[in-house]
Amino acid sequence: MKIASRLFQFVFIISAAIFSGLSCGKGGGGNTPPPNPCAGVTVSVTATTANPSGPGTSDGSITASATGGSGFTYSLNGGTFQPSGTFSGLAAGTYTITARNSNGCTGSANFTLTAPNPCAGITITVTGTTTNPTTGGGTNGSINANASGGTGPYMFSRDGINFQPSGTFSNLGAGNYTITARDANNCSGSANFTLTDPCAGVTITVTGTTVNPSSGTAADGSITAAANGGVGPYEYRLGAGAFQSSGTFTGLTAGTYTVTARDSRNCTGSANFTLTAPNPCAGVTINVSTTVVGNIPCTTPPTGSITATGSGGTGPYTYSLNSGSFQPSGIFSNLAPANYTVTARDVIGCMGTVNVNVPNRPQGPLFTQVKTLIQNNCIVCHNAANPNGGMNFEVDCNIVNFKNRILERAVNGNPSPMPPTGLLPASERQKIVDWINAGGRYID
Ligand code: HEC
Repeated sequence: MKIASRLFQFVFIISAAIFSGLSCGKGGGGNTPPPNPCAGVTVSVTATTANPSGPGTSDGSITASATGGSGFTYSLNGGTFQPSGTFSGLAAGTYTITARNSNGCTGSANFTLTAPNPCAGITITVTGTTTNPTTGGGTNGSINANASGGTGPYMFSRDGINFQPSGTFSNLGAGNYTITARDANNCSGSANFTLTDPCAGVTITVTGTTVNPSSGTAADGSITAAANGGVGPYEYRLGAGAFQSSGTFTGLTAGTYTVTARDSRNCTGSANFTLTAPNPCAGVTINVSTTVVGNIPCTTPPTGSITATGSGGTGPYTYSLNSGSFQPSGIFSNLAPANYTVTARDVIGCMGTVNVNVPNRPQGPLFTQVKTLIQNNCIVCHNAANPNGGMNFEVDCNIVNFKNRILERAVNGNPSPMPPTGLLPASERQKIVDWINAGGRYID
């Protein structure tokens, strides 16, 4: 209707413009257009309104009158002009009334009809009873809501969108709910209801006694658990196993177990129980006896050794040197002089440890004689600062390692004697021969 009205005005203006243009186009002085009868004329529209009696009711009316001319006709929302300014049968809304006088001059005004609010002064009160779910995490709770204060029948909704005639809502879990009631006039009110989980604030405590397994591998331990704090009867389960009415679990090996109890309302609690195998080494002392052979200096590889023997436990034993891997033999060879830790372990795993020193073996008497001989006759030319022939005989191991050269030079004089001034007396040379014949070692 409004669009039609605008269109009408638009067409009118365009027509006038064309008319005026045409007359200018002719350019003649004789054909003056007739004066516009609406120039200086203002058509004003006033009205009295009667609002509709209710929302959705079409019994409102507008009675319009106009000034600015005479012989008015009236149009509602661009509709057909009629002599009467009264338009009835109107619903709430905004209407445009256009008045046109006998010269075709128009004016218009907007009028708004307002429906009365049927809910003004009305308070819809929602009351109700709740039934909590009977199990922990359960969804058998319900709300039974009633409404008052409006015009029945009422409709009820949990989400404010979907309404149902009944105020009963079932299959509800614990939580907060807003129930909205709507009366016959669409007036609404709501209330909050809380359903409480029966396990809220409930602590199920699990206690129990344990029987440890008889050994580290035996499955003969048990747990006997009991629960309290809830509403019995209780059921129990071990770990993620099935619930059973008994709190006793048997056939258990050493370890830590979780026992969960649930009461008749599905409220749960749990506790951990640890079964400990007896220590098979309790009261067992593994003794480690050792035989040590000292290292012979100046030998490569070193010659020290330890022979260990375990006792006090259950053989056979295995042995470890300095926390190395265990081996069946208790003999450790090629050891340099040092402190060592030897551990013996029995078949059960019980262990004993001792600290052992592998020393260097002492200098032998024949070597001592040769060393004295060399100090007396050779060092002057074979020392650290002056090692003739590249040989420093202040170092004991050089005497040992070069013994064959010493024999050749100092005993056989081959290719030339040592000392260069001439061979030592036979008794001295015999000391070198005796030592080498005995093995030529540091310990000989
Ligand atoms: C006065 C100095 C002097 C005295 C003392 C001396 N040497 Fe030498 N020695 C030398 C010189 C110089 C060489 C290097 C030249 C050579 O090999 O003949 C040498 C070289 C050697 C060599 C190396 C030769 C080889 O074939 O590898 C031996 C071994 C040796 N002496 C042993 C001895 C012994 C043992 C004594 C003592 C009983 C001794 N010397 C006393 C001066 C001495």
